[in-house]
Amino acid sequence: MKQPVRVAVTGAAGAISYTILFKIAAGELLGSDQPVILQLVEIPPAMGALEGVVMELIDCAYPLVAGIQTADNPEDGFKDADIAFLIGAKPRGPGMERADLLMGNAQIFSRQGKALNDNAAKGVKVLVVGNPANTNALIAARNAPDLDPRQFTAMTRLDHNRAVGILADKVGAQASDVEGAIVWGNHSPTQYPDLHGCTVAGKPALDLIDRDYYEGTYIPQVAKRGAAIIDARGASSAASAAQAAINHIHDWVLGTHGKTVSMSVPSDGAYGIAPGVIYSFPVVCEGGDYKIVHGVEISEFSRGLMTHTDDELRSEKAAVETLLLAETEAAVAG
Ligand code: NAI
Repeated sequence: MKQPVRVAVTGAAGAISYTILFKIAAGELLGSDQPVILQLVEIPPAMGALEGVVMELIDCAYPLVAGIQTADNPEDGFKDADIAFLIGAKPRGPGMERADLLMGNAQIFSRQGKALNDNAAKGVKVLVVGNPANTNALIAARNAPDLDPRQFTAMTRLDHNRAVGILADKVGAQASDVEGAIVWGNHSPTQYPDLHGCTVAGKPALDLIDRDYYEGTYIPQVAKRGAAIIDARGASSAASAAQAAINHIHDWVLGTHGKTVSMSVPSDGAYGIAPGVIYSFPVVCEGGDYKIVHGVEISEFSRGLMTHTDDELRSEKAAVETLLLAETEAAVAG
């Protein structure tokens, strides 16, 4: 029997976790021969609800679950974690300003970055799901000086899966026929789903749909799918987010076998995106690592949209830096 892998999940009593925990426990994340220890992290007021989730996990009698631990703080919750799903975040409340949301999350993700640095396994793989995911991942990475920033990633796999699923549905194909879709940039409505190198059963995707549909309908539909789901079901996408988070870590650990997927990772300057942001790129994964795919042709149309979403990430980063600086100065001033 293999040694159990420790999987930490924050926001463990929330909606996404109510799907993802059961998938992890069933073996969808790491395979049906890999035992796991679940380390469930919540905030103190949600510990009662978390107990209910734990009862249900126990009641599933999963053969692969080698232990379930709970914690109301990230320091205990991340102890020796090999994988960390950072799902819990401060939600946007009624009338809340963008700055309040960024600041609330900056505080959460600074602490979680430090907690990972000091407590997790040195090779921990981190996926930030909680929004604003890319900027939260950047803050966590900055607060983990002993870990490689490449260990911190953010989730645009849901956007990637949406790009594939919506295209397949439109042209009457199966999702498995679609290859080479790319989501560039931020997990936000500025993201750019790029079909220029995409094929459906070997045929160029842009020969199967017309340009007006692509630019005027498809791109905004993929980018604003989250809002459409909230409008339709009165609650945000949870099952599809859980599926995408499973796909992201599964592929990072077990490889994509040559297939390109989209992951938000620290920019290394590829495609003219200057280092300093966590940006969604096309990647392939192999041997427990990911690699940005180079050589994708970038048209003028693509360049405009890639820069627009990069600008948004840089403005989120600047806002958080200003806020964190102001907080430090206020603390020093006493
Ligand atoms: P939810 O509100 O149902 O659950 C969030 C849970 O996180 C709550 O139980 C809350 O108590 C907990 N939490 C809050 N702060 C925490 C902290 N500091 N430490 C540990 N736990 C904490 O929300 P849901 O639907 O599960 O979504 C979670 C996050 O994922 C949201 O920020 C949402 O916007 C984001 N999201 C991101 C997607 C992506 O593609 N990147 C897709 C869908 C959702």
